[in-house]
Amino acid sequence: MRQFNEDTLTDAVVARLKDTENPRFRQVMTSLVKHLHAFAREVGLTEEEWFEGIKFLTATGKMCDDKRQEFILLSDVLGLSMMVVALNHKTPPGATEATVLGPFFAHGAPEFESGADLRQGATMKGEDTYVTGRVLSTDGKPIPNAALDIWQAKADGIYDVQDPNAEFELRGRVKADAKGEFAFKSYKPKFYSVPDDGPVGELLRATGNHKMRPAHMHAIVSAPGYQQVITHVFVDGDPYLDSDAVFAVKDSLIGKYSKVDSPEEAKRLGMPNPFTKLEWDFRLAPESGVKARKTIAPSDAFA
Ligand code: BEZ
Ligand code: FE
Repeated sequence: MRQFNEDTLTDAVVARLKDTENPRFRQVMTSLVKHLHAFAREVGLTEEEWFEGIKFLTATGKMCDDKRQEFILLSDVLGLSMMVVALNHKTPPGATEATVLGPFFAHGAPEFESGADLRQGATMKGEDTYVTGRVLSTDGKPIPNAALDIWQAKADGIYDVQDPNAEFELRGRVKADAKGEFAFKSYKPKFYSVPDDGPVGELLRATGNHKMRPAHMHAIVSAPGYQQVITHVFVDGDPYLDSDAVFAVKDSLIGKYSKVDSPEEAKRLGMPNPFTKLEWDFRLAPESGVKARKTIAPSDAFA
């Protein structure tokens, strides 16, 4: 076959995929080709425009290394990351909702007992915050010894992994106790900008969008026999809750950070007075009968 035009080319390319051994790969590639061609036809894509597109994708790739993942950021701001989360995580009733992982999870974070101070060695101060809560199953029973991978940005809106002077800051693996209870000290999260010094930043500016994420802490909660959840806790009242650059906000994930002014309670918890407190429970669905998300952090609870 030869002599293709805009009406016959798509079928010809799809036909070339017929010997793809893996049927799922064939299905994905067929659909991708059809949608890419339909997109080019729909907008009447010019050669200059496609060359600009190639330049953009090349710059995105060149920006990636083991610390910076511009393609994940691109997927995030295009809503594709949250689309994939939505397609794969129909939250079982009563379970904590999943949201985007983001590019700043790091393996090998230090492990802490409940009550740990994640502010240890912090290169920047913030609003002292005591976080406490429980890990429960969807029927409300405590899950003993769950593991909570926690990470959040520093007060300057930068994650420790982005800062050559910081190591495991506001990040740790906290063990819930036998009653499913956990606590740790941190700073109240602040809103911050996604990295905007690359092609994705240019894209945001060209489309008249801001680059901000509402204040949040990240959590991956894991326990044997339960579905791991990759989630956030957002800060109530944040100005960017309705315009998150990566579309990750869910109403059920907005936490109330309240001010506590009580010298006795501050002393009991080892906090300065006044301080900020967040009470937050995570609820996990049993593994059985649920399509499990691929485990990202070590899924074993502490022994
Ligand atoms: C984050 O929350 O860490 C994040 C998520 C998506 C893009 C950039 C940052
Ligand atoms: Fe974040």
